[in-house]
Amino acid sequence: MCGIVAAVAQRNVQGILLEGLKRLEYRGYDSAGMTVLSSGALTRHRALGKVAALEERLANEALPGHCGIAHTRWATHGKPSEANAHPHHSRDSVAVVHNGIIENYEQIKEMLQGSGYTFTSDTDTEVIAHLLADKLTTGKTLFEATQEIVSGLGGAYALGVMSTHEPNVVVGARQGSPLVVGVGIDEAFLASDPLALLQVTDRFIYLEEGDLVELREHGVIRIVDRQGNVVERPVHTFEHGDGAASKGEYRHYMLKEIFEQPKVIEAALEGRMSASSVLVESFGPDAQALFQKTRQVHIIACGTSYHAGLVARYWLERYAGVPVQVEVASEYRYRHPVVPEGTLFVTLSQSGETADTLAALRFAKTLGYVGTLAICNVPGSSLVRESDMSLMTRAGPEIGVASTKAFTTQLIALLLLTLSVSKAKGQPEQPEILAGLQALPSLCQQVLGLDAQIEALSQAFAEKHHALFLGRGAHYPIALEGALKLKEISYIHAEAYPAGELKHGPLALVDSEMPVISVAPNDELLEKLKSNLQEVRARGGQLFVFADRKVGISAQEDIRVLELPEVHEALAPLLYTLPLQLLSYHVAVLKGTDVDQPRNLAKSVTVE
Ligand code: AGP
Repeated sequence: MCGIVAAVAQRNVQGILLEGLKRLEYRGYDSAGMTVLSSGALTRHRALGKVAALEERLANEALPGHCGIAHTRWATHGKPSEANAHPHHSRDSVAVVHNGIIENYEQIKEMLQGSGYTFTSDTDTEVIAHLLADKLTTGKTLFEATQEIVSGLGGAYALGVMSTHEPNVVVGARQGSPLVVGVGIDEAFLASDPLALLQVTDRFIYLEEGDLVELREHGVIRIVDRQGNVVERPVHTFEHGDGAASKGEYRHYMLKEIFEQPKVIEAALEGRMSASSVLVESFGPDAQALFQKTRQVHIIACGTSYHAGLVARYWLERYAGVPVQVEVASEYRYRHPVVPEGTLFVTLSQSGETADTLAALRFAKTLGYVGTLAICNVPGSSLVRESDMSLMTRAGPEIGVASTKAFTTQLIALLLLTLSVSKAKGQPEQPEILAGLQALPSLCQQVLGLDAQIEALSQAFAEKHHALFLGRGAHYPIALEGALKLKEISYIHAEAYPAGELKHGPLALVDSEMPVISVAPNDELLEKLKSNLQEVRARGGQLFVFADRKVGISAQEDIRVLELPEVHEALAPLLYTLPLQLLSYHVAVLKGTDVDQPRNLAKSVTVE
């Protein structure tokens, strides 16, 4: 969490840094700040709240300069406040921005206080500024000083630092938190995400763990690895263009991203299957051999990505005959997992930088898995680079904190995985599912066409404090995802249950005030689900059912029904996700919450 941006250029960098922060705001948005070096001195503005508050400050008093660093924060140590906002300075000579957590900051702080350094914030980051200032008094360059002090830092960091000792130099360091170098023409930049810099360059170097980088005037970039060797890292051209940075005709990024789903699902499928066959090699040249010897699968992820993994369990077991375990990364990484021979380890992540998922992958690599596969939306991310194989979900940048198109494209990737594992094991292809996949984008388009009806339904939720989501089979995870969406953007307490569990406790919650949302596709569990819905009606619950138009659930006084098009059973979890996303979106808009940047959250969770 937290976003960093830095620039060394021949022009005024204030506007570049500010635009970068706006584009990084998804990573954290409780306070923001900027420091530039001008006339040999560090000048800084910081503001509590979103980047807009900093922008206002800058409008009153500009910070012109050719070299600067900036930060948007998601608080870990110290509450959101101006004093805790970055950059942190030491003795007017050093400025630091940091993303991550310094785990041993208390010991370092004590040591620095003993040497006479005064702390003005409650952050862990401030120790870095004072450590650097201290080192610089010994005559070291900013780069050397940074190199020396990072070896004593425990935890995770992406850093951008500058100093009055060496004007027009920015040093960056990466250990456990993402950091890219933007390669400009006669200028150079640093950022937590390439998106922050697309207004100035489309060429990026993805730093490796342990790398340090020095940016100097005229675009001079020097990278040194963990061992102290100067290294050349490849320069990648960013593929997605800059379209993601704007909301276009939509009121929110989330809505734009929901409506992009037909297009990105098509992109996720492109070149990976035909009407009669899935292309196993999409997962890499070794996929066929690896899937052949895969006897079970462990899927590890967090949040929405975890829900995608739960859906995949139903698919892999049913259509590929492979046993599957799915677990949240924060639990898995501290367990003592038993790994049977021939187990494939799969991570799912939109960002590819989620700290728990990354730590789980590193842990898994010590446990004897047959191979590791990352299903991810960000090429070049840590998860992709550190896995044996990867499949990109091709959703394009997702800006809204609530994950939407990243989830549905993960489901596409997981269905392709299911079909590929099945094929590699010599089982017959599944032409009906393949045909269904080809038809899916247009079915999604039809469902998005129900937006106005879903918006009308959302009125019934605006005054509610609780909601219950129900689903059965592969739609239980879809109910979980529906509940997560509603709670994260509308702040309504929502829970999800497999509908068959209702009578084991949660039915006690049902009364005439409790909205109960269910998805009812036309599958083998339909009749069971119908009985569960009757249990809700008998207790006076208000039912909202998204149902296949053929299943014969009709609207009545206590049950509102929205009909969805017919879809192959295997693909229903994808299609039924869309109305739940739209419902949450419209409820949040009615409640007036900050849809794209809900309170207390951040898009990319790069701390444990
Ligand atoms: C969901 O809307 C959230 N954005 C969150 O649960 C997210 O899915 C989770 O933090 C995992 O992120 P990742 O997919 O980038 O690893």
